[in-house]
Amino acid sequence: MLFKKRKIAEEMDMSNIPQHIGIIMDGNGRWAKKRGLPRSAGHRAGAETLKKIVVYCNKIGVKSVTAYAFSTENWNRPKAEVDALMELLYMYLGQVEEQFAGTNVILRVIGDRSALSDKINKAIDYAESYTSTNTGLVLNVALNYGGRDEICRAAQLAAKAVETGEIKAEDIDEEYMSKLMYTKDVPELDLIIRPSGEVRLSNFLLWQAAYAEFWFDSINWPDFSEKDMQRAVLDYQKRNRRFGKV
Ligand code: IPE
Ligand code: IPE
Ligand code: MG
Repeated sequence: MLFKKRKIAEEMDMSNIPQHIGIIMDGNGRWAKKRGLPRSAGHRAGAETLKKIVVYCNKIGVKSVTAYAFSTENWNRPKAEVDALMELLYMYLGQVEEQFAGTNVILRVIGDRSALSDKINKAIDYAESYTSTNTGLVLNVALNYGGRDEICRAAQLAAKAVETGEIKAEDIDEEYMSKLMYTKDVPELDLIIRPSGEVRLSNFLLWQAAYAEFWFDSINWPDFSEKDMQRAVLDYQKRNRRFGKV
């Protein structure tokens, strides 16, 4: 077993590590149900997994991870679950010093923050500024995030720039729009990982996914380990990314 683990790690081509990985952290509820635990226990376990995986990604040279934590549609869950998720988030942000100590990871929250409470917004500001002097991997936590919402927001910003005469309508091209996305400061999205057996995007990084590679697996997110990340990266390295060329 140990031998196999080492072998997988050795096979990774360190010159072809995906620069930006999107992770749809799915399957927390099913993980908990299997163990007879409340769904919130699954979310807590999922948060621990994220920490571990982000540290590992930083170690192998990934520049950015965007982790889907709460979608614009997740408000439609029972209030008790939404409240528990927000409380968990608040707790993690409140522990930013210990959670991020020694990781060199830069934390950013992406998504529509206007629907989040003042308490959570203040905690986000603090956590972002606390990690802003780090120099390693950028972790975007997608919170009240929706790909369609992000594109609408970008369209509104572009329309405003036309309205004020800053640009002409014809200036709105792919490059311009990309700079209006939350991901403007991180590399192009190379790989999307979705565990838990669901094979869909659920409104995640729609603009950025244009030429990303996809990796789906039946494992639930709380069980996702370094070994699974290695499997995903190895599969990614076998893909032939043509970008429309021959
Ligand atoms: C993903 O796990 C976390 C969030 C959406 C917040 P789920 O809560 O969707 O877990 P399943 O899909 O019910 O197993
Ligand atoms: C996607 O998972 C959102 C997050 C992981 C935060 P969901 O569990 O909400 O997605 P669906 O409802 O199965 O498509
Ligand atoms: Mg789910």
